[in-house]
Amino acid sequence: MAFEMVGVVGLGTMGAGIAEVFARAGLRVIGVEADAEALARGRAHVERSTGRAVDKGKLTPAEQAEILGRITLTTSRDDLRAADLVVEAIPEIMDYKISLFQDLDRICGPETVLATNTSSLSVTAIAAATGRPGRVIGMHFFNPAPVMKLVEVVGTVVTEPGVLSGVAELAERLGKTVVAVGDRAGFVVNRLLLPYLNHAAVLLEQGVAARDDVDAAMKLGVGLPMGPFALLDLIGLDTAYEVMGVLYDETRDRRHAPAPLLRELVTAGLLGRKSGRGFYGEDGQRPAPVDSAAVSFGVVGDELAGRLRAAGLEPSGDPDVLLHEAERPVIEYAAGLKDPAKLVGVHLVGDRVAELAATVLTAERAATGAAGLMRAAGLTPVPCKDRAGFVVDALLYPYLNDAVRMHDAGYASIADIDAAMRLGCGYPAGPFEMLETLGLARVRDGLRALYAEYREPAFAPAPLLDQLVTAGLGAFPRP
Ligand code: 3HC
Repeated sequence: MAFEMVGVVGLGTMGAGIAEVFARAGLRVIGVEADAEALARGRAHVERSTGRAVDKGKLTPAEQAEILGRITLTTSRDDLRAADLVVEAIPEIMDYKISLFQDLDRICGPETVLATNTSSLSVTAIAAATGRPGRVIGMHFFNPAPVMKLVEVVGTVVTEPGVLSGVAELAERLGKTVVAVGDRAGFVVNRLLLPYLNHAAVLLEQGVAARDDVDAAMKLGVGLPMGPFALLDLIGLDTAYEVMGVLYDETRDRRHAPAPLLRELVTAGLLGRKSGRGFYGEDGQRPAPVDSAAVSFGVVGDELAGRLRAAGLEPSGDPDVLLHEAERPVIEYAAGLKDPAKLVGVHLVGDRVAELAATVLTAERAATGAAGLMRAAGLTPVPCKDRAGFVVDALLYPYLNDAVRMHDAGYASIADIDAAMRLGCGYPAGPFEMLETLGLARVRDGLRALYAEYREPAFAPAPLLDQLVTAGLGAFPRP
């Protein structure tokens, strides 16, 4: 299958990035938008993106001109007549997609492959609406498309032999790694990523922790390239909301119901980076950190005591704050104390983050004092409510559990799921790699604690995870 001329319909954030990727790989690109204004925005996007590469010395101005010269922009779909492949990247609205694919089916030659960059809609339904269902597939890129190395290539039950492998070869020519998947809402990455992002929005709404603290916890504690709210702003809250809606319609899993906060922001036009404001805007100011010098403390927990001591912080006899190192909520312990107002639970996450759990009895002074102490010890404090999983485990463990269930359901291999999350989202490790590093038993027990507190069926440990722990195994069997 020879692809030399490629059409891209829709030059928003994704479409413009996809057009750039094709042009960089030497293909000729026809970019189509609805009107001149949208075309100009698409062109500006590619110019800005390649311009940044020039500024960094990664492209010469001549190479940039060549890339831009390979992209022809038009408002007429009829100009796609000569394309070998057309990739659609218009909004996630099924009616729009079907009407576009029916147009493309009429305009393009019978050999042309039509691909959708849909994040979650049914590729089969789009294919079935055309007269060439065997040549309609999913080609799902990740934002920013020029940077993220993954392409999910989605086949359906009617995909013709050779189409998938031809498109996969093309994606490799673009410098991408391909994970081939079946047509299931969210495919691999969005099915695992979006529920986690939605859950972060729910925790924010419930006041479990603040926006910046959640982002700091996931970035510094887990090593993700961005926290969930920064990533939601990058993806676009409208896209995230739509994907969650599709996932919910398919699974009826209440965790997939879009967080009301997402709907509120989207309705207000706060869509994230594309509209200039989403979870983040101009109001990203943080309160000044509290000075820790005046705070005396007691500490329960060897690792925490050692970290504080290493920073020159010594406990005292009659403390203002009692720090209790904990993996689980500390309210029971607090309730047994003479002065529970002083107690703050401390959950160390990696080398850089300390989650600080304030119970319903914790005094404000103790909470701010604990935060100052953590900063003095070189840790980023993440104040949160005293709930099972605090912030990091509550967000991370269900995601890991979902990955195990996805694999156990036969949808994708361990290697593909790990690669997809590393390359699609820039995660430092895939979910199975993370599970094995954290320890299967620890994650299983953490999930049990989450389940016991929230009674959320999906938090119950996946049977495969439970069985591996029961069998005393520390790793997933791989072929
Ligand atoms: N367009 C083009 N290039 C970009 C870019 C953009 N929008 N944003 C960043 N880059 C390039 C930079 O030029 C730089 O290139 P270089 O290494 O060649 O110099 C490189 O990316 C790194 O950028 P920065 O140093 O400016 O910033 P970071 O190191 O913070 O990286 C990031 C930015 C690549 C966005 C990183 O934070 C990341 O990987 N985040 C996770 C993104 C993610 O999860 N994406 C998937 C979302 S899900 C999705 O898209 C599916 C959809 O269906 C919903």
